Amino acid sequence: MKKQYIQLLDQAHHVKKNAYSPYSGFKVGAAILTKDGKTICGCNVENSAYGSTMCAERAAIFKAVSMGYKPGDFLAIAIASSGDNFSPCGSCRQVVNEFGEEIDFIFEWDGEIIVKSLKGLLPFNFQPKT
Ligand code: THU
Repeated sequence: MKKQYIQLLDQAHHVKKNAYSPYSGFKVGAAILTKDGKTICGCNVENSAYGSTMCAERAAIFKAVSMGYKPGDFLAIAIASSGDNFSPCGSCRQVVNEFGEEIDFIFEWDGEIIVKSLKGLLPFNFQPKT
């Protein structure tokens, strides 16, 4: 396990404390490692109109894009939650797919730290060719 990835997971645990999740009570934090060595974090933000909720991973991706980052700029995304087992939802996998199929996901499952590429988590990923 790369030391950088352990540190990224620590940052995801730290930012999950900022989650706004009064409806589910479930806190999620995400930390992206960029190729230029920066870390960009996000947390889940819920809404009384439940469908308007945003996941931590997408919050982090959208923040990064607003800072000027583009597809190909990300190395990895670590995600931490207040539950025991966590793996990123389908919508977040699809959004990360837009930014690079080699991006590594780091998350905890059954007490283990899992590292899997987007391609590993989203086989037969949608890649439109024009
Ligand atoms: N959630 C995330 O932040 N990321 C995921 O990949 C799955 C779910 C959030 C959304 C909601 O606030 C809470 O977890 C419960 O679904």
